[in-house]
Amino acid sequence: MRICFATNNQHKIKEVCALLDSSYTILSLSDIGCLEELAEEQSTIPGNSFQKANYVFQKYHVPCFADDSGLEVDSLNGEPGVDSAHYAGPQRSFDDNMNLLLKNLNGVTMRSAQFRTVITLVTPQTTQQFEGILRGQILHDKRGTEGFGYDPLFLPDGYNRTLAEMSLEEKNKISHRSKAVAKLIEFLTSLR
Ligand code: IMP
Repeated sequence: MRICFATNNQHKIKEVCALLDSSYTILSLSDIGCLEELAEEQSTIPGNSFQKANYVFQKYHVPCFADDSGLEVDSLNGEPGVDSAHYAGPQRSFDDNMNLLLKNLNGVTMRSAQFRTVITLVTPQTTQQFEGILRGQILHDKRGTEGFGYDPLFLPDGYNRTLAEMSLEEKNKISHRSKAVAKLIEFLTSLR
């Protein structure tokens, strides 16, 4: 089965290919000739994930899945959430985003949060969503240099190192994204 992963992030594509058997061929957006930027105009993570997968399926007639992720902080009513990438502005700076988060949590003692990924799969037969969640705490200071985004501020529950103090392999074992991918793979494998 040929299936498009609506991303040009080769790292994400490699990760998924490694988990699927050879009956699946994963195509990137450029592989199917989709060179335009995919709109993310919805107000929720599941909404944006669906918008991207459905756009590609409707326009290019290829079964497709898309992911969308964000950090949801409980005491900020789930913010930055769908706005995680551009929380502090359109420059999409990881450092600016983290600094704004720390400012908004200044004096706040309840610092529980979660990373959430939603993957939407759209095929001619079905539309399915798969969710992965990683719970943790937002620290008062950044720690570590690995990873990206909010990783230096995020201490996963049950660990004493932030995501930015873990290797990629360690992070992949517990991450929101890998949990959602595992559910997608389980579903795709059950179709065979
Ligand atoms: P995307 O939907 O995977 O592009 O994620 C959107 C934004 O959420 C990213 O730009 C980051 O700010 C944040 N984010 C998503 N996943 C992670 C993660 O694993 N670590 C840190 N930040 C993340």
